This record gives sequence, structure tokens and C-alpha cells, in this order.
Amino acid sequence: MPVRVLIPLRSPQVRAALTLATSAMVAVAMMAHATTDDTTLPEPEVIVTERLETWRGQGMSDALLAQISDGATVFRDTCAVCHGALGEGGAGYATPIIDTAALDKFRTGHRLFLYNRDMMPFNEPGSLPPETVWQVTAFLMAMNGWLDGLDAPLGADNARDVAIAP
Ligand code: HEC
Repeated sequence: MPVRVLIPLRSPQVRAALTLATSAMVAVAMMAHATTDDTTLPEPEVIVTERLETWRGQGMSDALLAQISDGATVFRDTCAVCHGALGEGGAGYATPIIDTAALDKFRTGHRLFLYNRDMMPFNEPGSLPPETVWQVTAFLMAMNGWLDGLDAPLGADNARDVAIAP
């Protein structure tokens, strides 16, 4: 029996087929390894980029997408040190401010803007120009799912009507 098997194995066609099958198995194993072993969260930038793409696909305007994207940069540079890279809570303030009910009390985008403008960053309140505060407020609102259906960038003229919906 073994002899019969060994003879066809020598044929180039069989060897080629075996090589193909083996590399396919290796590829599948590597893919499985990548998905099951990868326990670390994707980079915040990757998550934000994915969200921006989703909103773009849902028809969000370029102007609002740009404001949210700028806000993500502000958040990363100015807020993440205390609030965590994705607002999940951090060394400076443990309570999450993204994916949370903690901000429900602000009720509207305008009141969240006022809080951010006058109280944040905690170590240097009032240091950010209004445009920057609008950007980071839009980012927080969007990540919490409160900008769905908004078209223009968040600002003084519309933020009172943009509800923070529990
Ligand atoms: C030095 C640390 C620090 C930085 C930097 C900082 N925060 Fe805060 N943040 C805090 C602390 C502490 C509180 C709680 C303040 C309180 O309860 O009075 C807070 C509270 C908040 C809240 C209200 C949370 C709640 O549960 O009521 C929001 C919204 C917020 N920060 C947004 C921001 C934004 C936006 C930035 C960046 C522009 C920022 N923070 C930067 C420390 C920080």
C-alpha cells in the first residue's frame, strides 16, 4: 500500500497540487491566527476613520465630516491624556465620555459646547478658540451617535436644536 502511494507522489503534477494545498492551508492558518490572536483594540485613528467612512456612506456632508475629523485631532491632542484615547475614561477622569449616558444631562449640543468651552481642558479651561471647541464637541456628539441627520457643521446657529438623546 505505501509503495503505491509513494509512486504517484513523485509525479510533478501531484507535487504541484500538494504544494498548492499546503500553501492554502498555511494561508488559512495565518488568517485564523490573525483574527483569533489579535486581542488588542485597533488604533483609535482606525476606529475613527471607520466611523467617518460609515457616516460618509450614510450621506453625511463633507463639511460635517471634516469638522468631526478635526475634532478627533483636537481630542487626541488635548483631551485624550485625561479621558482616554476614545473617551473611554483615563488617568485624569475615569468616567467615560463616549459610549455613555454620562453626557445625557447636557441635553443639547449647545450646552455641551458651553461646558467644553468654559470648563475644559480641565487643566487650562477657556484656552481653546471657539472653532476648536465646536470641532471637539462635534466629535464627542458624533461618537455618541447624536449627530445622525445633521447636515451642516455643528455651530452656534444649530446646536440648540441638536438634541443629546438618551
Ligand atoms: C487634565 C485633565 C483633563 C483634560 C486635559 C480634559 N479633561 Fe475633561 N474632565 C476632566 C475632569 C477631572 C472632569 C470632571 C470635572 C468635574 O466633575 O467637575 C472632566 C469632565 C469632562 C466632561 C463632562 C463629563 C461628565 O461626566 O460630566 C466633558 C464633556 C469633558 N470633560 C470634555 C473634555 C474635552 C472635550 C477635553 C479636551 C478639549 C477635555 N475634557 C480635557 C479632566 C480633563
